[in-house]
Amino acid sequence: MAYSEKVMDHFENPRNLGKMDNADGIGEVGNAKCGDIMKIYLKVDDGIISDVKFNTFGCASAIATSSMATEMIKGKPVEEALELSNKAVVEALDGLPPAKIHCSVLAEEAVKAAVADYYTKNGIELDPEIFGNGCGSDCAACDHCG
Ligand code: FES
Repeated sequence: MAYSEKVMDHFENPRNLGKMDNADGIGEVGNAKCGDIMKIYLKVDDGIISDVKFNTFGCASAIATSSMATEMIKGKPVEEALELSNKAVVEALDGLPPAKIHCSVLAEEAVKAAVADYYTKNGIELDPEIFGNGCGSDCAACDHCG
């Protein structure tokens, strides 16, 4: 399966690429399957994600999914960012080759980790239903641990 036009577009012109000074939440996760790394920075104003940046040391699919994920959470309430699934990001990109689906999990995990960091910095308790395994990811959507 070839890459969709949207994947190619987000890979070649990644949105929100870069670092952020004074981020309110930072999430960094590694992909156990390939060793790639992703970092997401959030700026939060009144509970709304007013800005988001990402940096990734990863493949084309990781770059495209991070780029799309940042667009999908920008301007949204923080809680909504937690609902972002890798499946939704893949759908928004018009699909990924099956062997590359694991790359999209990185974006979802990095967003969750950044929100967890934001919550922790602001004294908000982490809901074990969402952050239960400590890595910030949703066990049901991910097979990294087993
Ligand atoms: Fe590592 Fe895609 S191969 S994230």
